[in-house]
Amino acid sequence: MITETGSDINRAASLLQQGQLVAIPTETVYGLAGNALRDDAVLSIYRAKERPHFNPLIIHLPSWEAVAPYVAGVPEAAHALARAFMPGPLTLLLPRTPLVPDLVTAGSPKVAVRVPGHPLTHRLLQALDFPLAAPSANRFGYVSPVTAAHVAEGLGGRIPYILDGGPCEVGVESTIVDFEGDAVIIRRTGKISAAQIESVCGRPVLMQTSADDHPVAPGMLKSHYATTTPLVVGSLAVLNRRYGHLNRLLIGWGSREELLAQAGADYNDGAPDVLTLSPSRSIDEVARRLFAAMRDADAAGYEVILAQRFPDAGIGQAVNDRLQRAQHAPEEPGSPEAGEVK
Ligand code: TXA
Ligand code: MG
Repeated sequence: MITETGSDINRAASLLQQGQLVAIPTETVYGLAGNALRDDAVLSIYRAKERPHFNPLIIHLPSWEAVAPYVAGVPEAAHALARAFMPGPLTLLLPRTPLVPDLVTAGSPKVAVRVPGHPLTHRLLQALDFPLAAPSANRFGYVSPVTAAHVAEGLGGRIPYILDGGPCEVGVESTIVDFEGDAVIIRRTGKISAAQIESVCGRPVLMQTSADDHPVAPGMLKSHYATTTPLVVGSLAVLNRRYGHLNRLLIGWGSREELLAQAGADYNDGAPDVLTLSPSRSIDEVARRLFAAMRDADAAGYEVILAQRFPDAGIGQAVNDRLQRAQHAPEEPGSPEAGEVK
């Protein structure tokens, strides 16, 4: 199959109406979309991504009003969050109606719903009379795509069309919020922070983030969002000392000089390569550039990528979470961390 890239909404809509798959831009990451109400389309999403087992999918709609037929018993806190943050980088887990196929929720009584903020995808959704099921448009286990070119790298030849909406503005996947009784629970961190959710809901939120996909058995699941190159996250000073013998790339924020200083620049064989995600230390810029930087670093052939941990607030929490999930240390005989997977 030849994969075309373009910004033709009519073409995207007609392929989706035929039950085919189209990669779509959102403000978070690119999604691999298909008609959520057609089992054949949903099955081909799992197949194209090579997801080894069924993991529920988020359904995407043009507005909160359009979500209504697919959910029931919506708590007031969910309405408040939808009013505050939709369209936007937020996903809500809500009790589903029988309109939502089992295949989409993997049998769960709840469905994940999202109203993405990207203008192209908004217009596409408005042109359709069904929701789009869409996981991130990467192959299972790899880094989520934030440009059309990233999608083509992973899924080229497997899908007919990539709707190109430019680079994603947020850069990490949506915040996922669940409701149990009166409790409001964050299941995945993202751009919409715990503090923002608390201020809208008027109560403390619980943080219960777990592995992104349920492992078949402990240890069997490879890391997520992962580069092929080993990646470790922590203090650059500690990591640079421990992995000083390897050909390495240091990733962090601040200027190049600041990063080298942070890493404890005392080099006999010259300074290591460094990549700054934001010279001005903007955490939003770090999030926006993170996945592209991980892909570039992966392609550059280092033996290890060393990433700093960022302040654990706002979208910084999501950045740390994605780095943590990507973490897999290089094989090192005698090291307790050797071969560790998350
Ligand atoms: O930003 C995003 O959310 C992107 C864009 C494309 O919308 N989508 C995305 O989808 O990140 P995916 O499939 O890569 O991640 C969705 C997460 C998975 O961890 C899945 O387990 C969880 O949402 N999820 C989906 N439906 C669920 C459900 N019914 N119950 C519990 N978790 C669910
Ligand atoms: Mg994903």
